[in-house]
Amino acid sequence: MTGSVLPENVQLRERTALRAFDYEIPTRIIGGPAAIARLGGELTRYGVRNPVVITDAGIRAAGILDIVLTHLPGSVPVFDGIASDPTTDSVEEAARVIREGVHDGVIAIGGGSPLDAAKAAAAAATTGRPVLDLVGPDKVDIAPTTLIAVPTTAGTGSEVTRFCVLSDAASRRKVSISSMRVMPKLALLDPELTTGLPAGLTAATGFDALAHAVESYCSVWNNPISEGHARHAVTLIGTHLRTAVNRPADLPARMGMLAASCIAELAANSTRLGLAHALAVPLGAAHSIPHGIAVAHMLPEMCAFNEEAEPARCAELARCLAPGARSLSEAVRALRADVGLTTRLRDWKVTERDFSPIVELALSSDNTRANPRIAGANELTDLLRAAA
Ligand SMILES: [Fe+2]
Repeated sequence: MTGSVLPENVQLRERTALRAFDYEIPTRIIGGPAAIARLGGELTRYGVRNPVVITDAGIRAAGILDIVLTHLPGSVPVFDGIASDPTTDSVEEAARVIREGVHDGVIAIGGGSPLDAAKAAAAAATTGRPVLDLVGPDKVDIAPTTLIAVPTTAGTGSEVTRFCVLSDAASRRKVSISSMRVMPKLALLDPELTTGLPAGLTAATGFDALAHAVESYCSVWNNPISEGHARHAVTLIGTHLRTAVNRPADLPARMGMLAASCIAELAANSTRLGLAHALAVPLGAAHSIPHGIAVAHMLPEMCAFNEEAEPARCAELARCLAPGARSLSEAVRALRADVGLTTRLRDWKVTERDFSPIVELALSSDNTRANPRIAGANELTDLLRAAA
């Protein structure tokens, strides 16, 4: 609790100073230029003899798949049928490929969609259960086959999370598997695989990583380990995102962002997120707004809302993002403008009439309960209005 008197409209959740925590990250992380050259040796180390690559068509078209395949022994089969916002149907298809090929390892390559889909497919293949049976907390009862994650964007941090976010084709809702068992055995962070990412995607995915770090730091379920990770991820993003957007081939900036995205999830994996994701996830699903862009719309508004309640904590994080920043919301807005994320919700044809179902879904999200300042329907609607 802050010592200062809060405005009457600000209700703060109790933050327990000595809350017990349980921090676990079972994923080994290898990073650096040419890290991908270690892939073949790592498969041997984990005893994988018959791997399959799971990815999407974009990774093949970008030439990244060919680069990865040159580092694999023999001819490794590829399933590239994962759609963006992966549907449970495409996960079932990938699971069938793993089962029928009797594969003892999965190499997941791509942004958040192929990584989440591959994690879910490995779990469905090993457990022999339909993927929808695994949705919810701790439903994966058998450790899935060995999975190596190779992220090609610096945003979701899916390579170190216990979550698989999928689109249920039948209900057209986002559903999520949450289990420590789906976490990859190894994350391989190679900045050279991200230099071809266009500026717009670099900015949007970078903002997703920033939101993970900021929301984790703000979360009332944070802990001393996650807090250190969150702060450092924000510092890295403040240092590297502008350069990664403006000079795509700058390897230190690309490595800085890959590390930031991974570290942000080393934080958020144990804390949940906050209001920006609570609103951005249903916004993105209902209005086909790419996840990072939806998050970028909501993040400064969430920061402005939270800094009224916890000014000192938010100011501390603002200084990580931009030394000399006057406030967190201002520093986030300045970065957003500098990296060219200039749209507003109205540009995605979202109007006031669309707010109520989004608010309803946000109210049922754990991410809303993690936020330090209590937000009801009126407050969530005001946040959407501010981003409209
Ligand atoms: Fe996200």
